[in-house]
Amino acid sequence: MKMSSLMDRLPRTYLLVFYCVTFVCIYGGSQDVSPSCEVGLLVRRGTTWTAAPQQRVTVRCPVNDCGESLNVTWCKLSDTNICERINGTENVQQNDKHVKDDLISFLTFKRISIHDDGLYVCSLKGYKYEVISHVINISVSDFYQGVKTSIDTTDEPPSVAGDEDLSWLPYFFICLGVALLFGALTLLTILIP
Ligand SMILES: *[C@@H]1O[C@H](CO)[C@@H](O)[C@H](O)[C@H]1NC(C)=O
Ligand SMILES: *[C@@H]1O[C@H](CO)[C@@H](O)[C@H](O)[C@H]1NC(C)=O
Ligand SMILES: *[C@@H]1O[C@H](CO)[C@@H](O)[C@H](O)[C@H]1NC(C)=O
Repeated sequence: MKMSSLMDRLPRTYLLVFYCVTFVCIYGGSQDVSPSCEVGLLVRRGTTWTAAPQQRVTVRCPVNDCGESLNVTWCKLSDTNICERINGTENVQQNDKHVKDDLISFLTFKRISIHDDGLYVCSLKGYKYEVISHVINISVSDFYQGVKTSIDTTDEPPSVAGDEDLSWLPYFFICLGVALLFGALTLLTILIP
């Protein structure tokens, strides 16, 4: 009895707006359920290789290719911050392989020398937009023994929260705000005779 009279008091437009907002909330939220694939290079920030001369060193550049055919190129940063394209030589060779669903570009130094010491970058040549990996530091010295790799995390931001997809956040707050508004309106409808 009380419930039905309450329903009568709710204006039609009020309900209509409610349905519209609910639709926007559901539609906006569901968009993010299947995020579109983004082409990228998955070299970790701060990747460092140390090697003694004459060692065989293979560094990798995993590619998120989203099923597209891509051309990976490697370059070495010069002192003047120009990235010089690496052309295949007797000593340095590039190999792109599909491992399961992923494309990985390998750069192999058959016998690394101190001239190979430096910072390396892989990139996608001729792609729609510029895609460049994090820098790979290859350090060659007699002081090192064998070949080792590590991830230097000192210059990494303290949290990796930036990697999280927070695009649903505005929808959440819009929906929350609207829910609160309707809660208040419903309360007023009940309380005011
Ligand atoms: C590789 O080849 C390009 C042109 O073919 C040349 O401009 C570039 O200097 C070469 N890079 C190196 C490191 O030799
Ligand atoms: C990759 O390179 C090949 C041969 O150099 C070229 O035919 C092709 O168009 C390139 N693909 C892209 C996506 O740049
Ligand atoms: C590369 O790594 C070596 C060994 O960790 C380090 O001594 C050197 O400073 C690094 N180079 C750059 C440019 O970060």
